[in-house]
Amino acid sequence: MSQATTGCPYANDPRTRYDALHHEPLTRNDNGRWVVVRHADAVAVVTDPETFSSHVSRFLQVPNGLDGAAHREARELLDPFLAPERLTGLEPTLERIADQLAASVPAGSRLDAVGELGSVYAVRAQSAWLGWPSDIEPELLAWMEDNHAATRSGELERTAAVAHRFDAIIHRLLSFRRIRRPGPPEDLTDELMRVKHHDGRPLGEDEIVSVLRNWTGGDLGSLALCTGVVLYWLATHPELQDELVDAANDSFDAALDEILRIDDPFVSNRRVATVDTVLNGQPIAPGEQLVINWTAANRDPAVFADPEGYAPEANAAKNLVYGAGPHVCPGRALATLELRVLVRAMLGRHRIALDPEAVPEREQPPVGGFHRVPLLLDPRGRS
Ligand code: HEM
Repeated sequence: MSQATTGCPYANDPRTRYDALHHEPLTRNDNGRWVVVRHADAVAVVTDPETFSSHVSRFLQVPNGLDGAAHREARELLDPFLAPERLTGLEPTLERIADQLAASVPAGSRLDAVGELGSVYAVRAQSAWLGWPSDIEPELLAWMEDNHAATRSGELERTAAVAHRFDAIIHRLLSFRRIRRPGPPEDLTDELMRVKHHDGRPLGEDEIVSVLRNWTGGDLGSLALCTGVVLYWLATHPELQDELVDAANDSFDAALDEILRIDDPFVSNRRVATVDTVLNGQPIAPGEQLVINWTAANRDPAVFADPEGYAPEANAAKNLVYGAGPHVCPGRALATLELRVLVRAMLGRHRIALDPEAVPEREQPPVGGFHRVPLLLDPRGRS
């Protein structure tokens, strides 16, 4: 298709602010952390884990907060759970979940792509992947809402309280399994509970909880936000809907990656300097923290001549939506599969347009994408 070009559509779109920073020297945010917005700087930081450690939190974060050998071991133990070949069995279940959701929207109806579609699908898809019971859905949906609100507030105590609530949900699930399922593993969560370190020690309860927190943190919130961004883009680029409806998986996935590059809802990750170093001419002392702003790096005009221009093939190699370096997202195949299955189900049944009577609402940093994308759905073929 032709390269569609639109400006940032909303005055409160944080991307407008990020776009202004690419030619500035490194600046600090309100928390005193250096903000990394240039593509080259982001890649330099995340591919040099000796200089820029991921151990930024006092809480255990497996694998996110680990460095060096411990991080390598964690990835070796955990990546197989997310490998593409492990996901083929999941696809028909995801298709059933997505199709039920797409079919449940009557012709001509209005729908919020984030709250009413992406969030619900994310919880159901993830529960299917992990083998969690469906009656946990209301609790997880409420948690997602509160988690976003806490992240938005920037209040550490509130964020910690929400994290504790999530840990409590997981502890409950695990203890139930310990009592009821002493035998061979019945699902992926059972399998995770039986993983052993290379020296033969079983993963501790705190490690299992942390892994599940990081998997679900990556999956639930991000997937709902990705759904909002992708369906917004498709609603405003109807010609791409026609192109994708029959597209092969590879082309479909490339389109999803490129839409997410233009409007990356997974905004940031942190690092901490371990030694004296210099980034973009700025001296950085050991102990100083940096925030890698993926959304900004994915729109750096030094790399993407027209950052808002849709060009899946040309931009694929530089796309940083799933990160780079040793901490690159292990969940990419799962996220892409989940998103593709949902968007295909929606496109198979509906023509997607923005609701002319409502306004999409942007999220604000550190959350990205949209809080709300009101859609108007017509049966496909009627237009
Ligand atoms: C939905 C879209 C997703 C996006 C845009 C995304 C993006 C990212 C990015 C940018 C990183 C790099 C973090 C860093 O360098 O510090 C990352 C890491 C990670 N992601 Fe994802 N992710 C997504 C979905 C998922 C899913 C579905 C899972 C698992 C179920 C997942 C699990 C993780 C984990 C565990 C890490 C940490 C890896 C490490 O530190 O070695 N993500 N993700």
